[in-house]
Amino acid sequence: MSKPGQAAGAVPVLRADGPLLVFGGPYSNLEATEALLDEAARRGIPPARMLCTGDVVAYCADAVAVTEQMMRSGIAVVMGNCEQNLGTGADDCGCGFAEGTACDLLSRAWYAHATRSLAPAHRAWMRALPRRIDIDIAGLRLAAIHGGAAGGPGAINRFLFASAPEGTLAAELAATGADGVIAGHCGIPFTRVLARGVWHNAGAIGMPANDGTARVWCSLITPLDERRLRIEHVALRYDHARSAARMRAAGLPEGYAAALASGLWPSCDVLPPAERARRGQPLDPPAVTWSASGAAMGAAMGAAMGAADAPRLAG
Ligand SMILES: [Fe+2]
Repeated sequence: MSKPGQAAGAVPVLRADGPLLVFGGPYSNLEATEALLDEAARRGIPPARMLCTGDVVAYCADAVAVTEQMMRSGIAVVMGNCEQNLGTGADDCGCGFAEGTACDLLSRAWYAHATRSLAPAHRAWMRALPRRIDIDIAGLRLAAIHGGAAGGPGAINRFLFASAPEGTLAAELAATGADGVIAGHCGIPFTRVLARGVWHNAGAIGMPANDGTARVWCSLITPLDERRLRIEHVALRYDHARSAARMRAAGLPEGYAAALASGLWPSCDVLPPAERARRGQPLDPPAVTWSASGAAMGAAMGAAMGAADAPRLAG
């Protein structure tokens, strides 16, 4: 990957000439992060073809160990709202939770734990992370961001779920000027083919997807031929009992520790009605083959067409 800061305001670019392994939200979950790295090794994917969409530190116990794994891994990491706020010593995680909601109250405990754990070098690394990384793959440009893009840096904690209106996702994509977006933050995996472009969220590896299973999610984006990609969602299993035990030993909220096994979030405050209604239903997001034609790279122009089933649920 080219380095941030080569030119003023330059967006770093990751050129992927083979499958790209994408993951979001390690969330201080050491066992899940190790499972992700094992999966990459098993598939023969080097760190140079891996992308993290941010929130390295959050709900779980091992803020330092997971941060240091990311720091030394060589994996490209987009700044999440957690890195933004921990890096600058802000008072809260900046997740965008409404004041006094369950998510807001629960987040205070892990944020305090992380704040106590991290050293200045960890915070400096977080502050230096890019807010956007461009993926150059199959002749396409995909903008990797954490939340949204429209409106500038404040969009970092925008929740954009699978049920978002097409116009909302299209406007966010247009703000990037790219052919497609790889986003994080919302914690539930999905891929939406838009009239002009594609929106992909790999989900999170540090917390299940509120689907009633302990599985966590990453994805593979494979270049097929010129301007054609295959996007697959990949479920991971890992030693969640050990992660939960470490959370309990650290005195972290039981709601998130229990969620690692139950696959059910302790609060659905942030979810739109459609995602709320799917709570506890095992996910089975389909693979998508997406072809783009005519879109000028970086200009958000031209027609794009894709082939994908609507997001479906198993069971
Ligand atoms: Fe986030």
